[in-house]
Amino acid sequence: MKTAVVYNSQTGFTKRYARWIAEAAGADCMELSEAKKKSMASYEAIVFGGWACAGSISKLGWLKDNMDKWTDKKLIVFCVGGSPMESPEIGSALGRNFKEGELERVSVFYCPGGFNYEKMPAPSKLMMKIFIRTLKAKKDKTKEEEEMIKMISSSYDISDKKYIAPILKCLQET
Ligand SMILES: Cc1cc2nc3c(=O)[nH]c(=O)nc-3n(C[C@H](O)[C@H](O)[C@H](O)COP(=O)(O)O)c2cc1C
Repeated sequence: MKTAVVYNSQTGFTKRYARWIAEAAGADCMELSEAKKKSMASYEAIVFGGWACAGSISKLGWLKDNMDKWTDKKLIVFCVGGSPMESPEIGSALGRNFKEGELERVSVFYCPGGFNYEKMPAPSKLMMKIFIRTLKAKKDKTKEEEEMIKMISSSYDISDKKYIAPILKCLQET
């Protein structure tokens, strides 16, 4: 199946997953800016990867805006975030990015990435600073919130190639 893996990445985690998927699937891999300049007509499958930003999948609008035109293609979305795979809220957070009916057309997956403050642009760094400060100021924090503060206060990498397996499986299914 001729496949394009298109990604939007700020600090490199989504790009890494996109490359892993493209390499394993023998697909073309490109940044969203490049994909926008190209015709996607010849692809039978499009895999789009965006990073999680306050619950939203970055630049998902590109895929959604084209969905009606791509009725003949297999569509897969993967979201890369800082949350570990076990986080209970991942499924519902991903679901909120789609309207009813859209999920019948798109298969959605989550891949844990991490945080890379060294590569993060200033506006995102500021948003994270405010988020962490607000969370720290909260009274009666849950154990999960305390753990989250510790985790996201500095850079970490929980990405792993193993998380692409369900995406590859979905691509193989006809
Ligand atoms: C402003 C901001 C908001 C974020 N919101 C979330 C979130 O809601 N859920 C999550 O799991 N990760 C969140 N993250 C973490 C990023 O999704 C994570 O660092 C991801 O690996 C970045 O991917 P990239 O390296 O491809 O840019 C957020 C990061 C920033 C900077």
